[in-house]
Amino acid sequence: MARDIKKLISEMTLEEKASLLGGADFWHTKTVERLGIGSYMLSDGPHGLRKQEEGGDHLGINDSIQAVCFPAACATASSYDRELIYGMGDVIGRECQAENLSTVLGPAVCIKRSPLCGRNFEYMSEDPYLAGEMAAAYINGVQSHHVATSIKHYAANNQETARMSVSAEVSERALREIYLPAFETAVKKAQPKTIMCSYNKINGVYSSENKWLLTDVLRKDWGFEGFVVTDWGAVADRVKGVMAGLDLEMPGNTAENDALVVEAVRSGKLPEEAVDACVERILRVFFDFDEHREQQVFDREKDHAIAAKIEEECAVLLKNDGLLPLRAGGKYLYVGEYAEKPRYQGGGSSHINSYRVDSALSASRAAGRSPDYIKGFPMDSDTLYEEDLAKLLQAAPDYDAVVVFAGLPDIIESEGYDRKDMKLPASQNRLIEALLRVQKNVVVVLSNGAPVELPWADEVPSILEMYLGGEGVGQATDKLLFGEVNPSGHLAETWPMKLSDNPSFINFPGTPRRVSYAEGIYVGYRYYDAKEMPVRYAFGHGLSYTSFEISNLRCDREAFGDGEQLTVRVDVKNTGDRSGKEVVQLYVAAKNGTVARPVKELKGFVKVALQPGETKTVEMTIDDRALSYYDEDLRDWYAPSGEYALLAGDSSDHITAEGTVRFETKKLPYLAVDTDTNVGELLKDPRTAPVFQQLMAARMSAANASQDGISGDEAQDQAMMQAMMEYMPLKSLISFGVMNREQLQGLVQMLRSAL
Ligand code: BGC
Repeated sequence: MARDIKKLISEMTLEEKASLLGGADFWHTKTVERLGIGSYMLSDGPHGLRKQEEGGDHLGINDSIQAVCFPAACATASSYDRELIYGMGDVIGRECQAENLSTVLGPAVCIKRSPLCGRNFEYMSEDPYLAGEMAAAYINGVQSHHVATSIKHYAANNQETARMSVSAEVSERALREIYLPAFETAVKKAQPKTIMCSYNKINGVYSSENKWLLTDVLRKDWGFEGFVVTDWGAVADRVKGVMAGLDLEMPGNTAENDALVVEAVRSGKLPEEAVDACVERILRVFFDFDEHREQQVFDREKDHAIAAKIEEECAVLLKNDGLLPLRAGGKYLYVGEYAEKPRYQGGGSSHINSYRVDSALSASRAAGRSPDYIKGFPMDSDTLYEEDLAKLLQAAPDYDAVVVFAGLPDIIESEGYDRKDMKLPASQNRLIEALLRVQKNVVVVLSNGAPVELPWADEVPSILEMYLGGEGVGQATDKLLFGEVNPSGHLAETWPMKLSDNPSFINFPGTPRRVSYAEGIYVGYRYYDAKEMPVRYAFGHGLSYTSFEISNLRCDREAFGDGEQLTVRVDVKNTGDRSGKEVVQLYVAAKNGTVARPVKELKGFVKVALQPGETKTVEMTIDDRALSYYDEDLRDWYAPSGEYALLAGDSSDHITAEGTVRFETKKLPYLAVDTDTNVGELLKDPRTAPVFQQLMAARMSAANASQDGISGDEAQDQAMMQAMMEYMPLKSLISFGVMNREQLQGLVQMLRSAL
């Protein structure tokens, strides 16, 4: 039976209430035994359980129980498959029930602003729509078992360098359009039971004390109902935090801060109701877990197989000049230690003590194949075994193909620090380049959590990106290489040619105190598109062993308006000779240039399975929000009336079906009218244009009448006048003698009353 939380709170002392707002130890909350309130365990996440029975730490150093390591978010986001990720969440929810874990700390959805962020492997995308959709699916899966999730790190935690002190200096428009929507979508579609606020400051205010972030946006705008927990140690001033909307401080060691909360209530600085509200929000989540305990068994063997299956859907075939899939019975040579010891997860708090790890080599042998193997280079440092290299160069020509297993060493990608560059270890590049001189049939299989520069990409016929694919990565790699599974992942991030092409390059990572997000909304493909810049692999790119055709985009109506929805349909045909899955992507482009907008933005996607020759129609629905930008003056989303293009394709750089739709809004943009308002702004706004035009016409004719004899081409004069006046503030009407100060004040009043 559900417990009466309000009654319980009324029976608590202030000290007891305050104590519930801070952890007991690294992973547990405090108890109030007298009232039968137990302790609850929270645990990392997100791609498997890091349940530490003793010796808690947040950097993945001490041991945790053996658990199943699923693919990291860099991989799962590339699946573009909501159902798949729901399924992964469902399994993790079951595992939590089996292990008595109330909360799993994830998913992590910070936007990949720079390819260098050390935790990009744990994050989903450079695109907020994709990140939000995948996060919502994961949350719904986990929470279907009444286990809480903690979507993190809210917000603008896009680097590891100085993550605990840096202030992300970022415009509200960029926050609303790029850095917040993944959280917003998750809240609106999945109501995560908890959200983890980040370490960093945003525009000078710590996230854990940021009322705008934790209350105005999260609760008031989006309707978040759960509780806010700090990232581990992200409290500077708990009282300020509670006032801003923070509920729970983790980890433990919080007695001093609990006492400060009590003192703040006693001194009248903090209303006791604010503390009550935190307790209520926290207990609601934990009691819900208590009331829905399931008899689950953590079946590691079964979940291991699921982890491998998920990875099959995530890997991205970056390039294929016909060398893949490999032929059963062909003569192949595997090179690189990653073939025998895969790199399948990143470092830090998400690090799992994996149950069992499959390598590509062991999986291929288990499947009855017998590739030869030369180690060539180690997985954990930038060196070559020179003897192996000599052996390789001699033997390579005798094989049908050589498969190089390349990737980033563990030490390079981790929580706590960022990468220094975007390169693979030089020794791996050297080996691949040397190999290409003696054998053209080279396949490169990559294991890394973020893009790397690929100097040899034009010469290597086939490149398969496994990302950090979880403990079943070996099996998945084998099936994909030999065509037992057809690759269907698509990139959730752009791969630039080189690091310096990235829009954050000159402002990353800033100083320990400040990092400027000067590129604003132009993150990832939004920037490369705007600059028409060639990239190595575009956002959304991903190949298959079959081929698809996306065509015939149509809408269910020609125009739509505020609060209405538009359904877009597209046909997709498998034009090849194998079954496979295609990701149909829908982008929206504003055609009415009122403010600077990205060339196009992802607003829909569907993954669809097709037999050879089969055609299906997929459906995606958008609303006015999909057409909107965030107007900082209006402090709201705004889609101007006009035409919008709808673009469908299998990648952001491969659009094959297009249409347009007209949008009509009754909302008008915000216009600040004062003596600094430019004439052009007044003339563009349908509310103020007639007032201003009428008045000016009267003034002009009076002026012309008094300057008898002035003649000329009136139309041309008017055009010139208009062009000159566009950026002329109203106050200059005085300087140029058009009116006096008093008349100007009257004009401002008239214009304001027209709004
Ligand atoms: C990380 C979080 C993690 C927490 C607990 C922090 O350092 O930023 O993502 O959930 O530790 O391990």
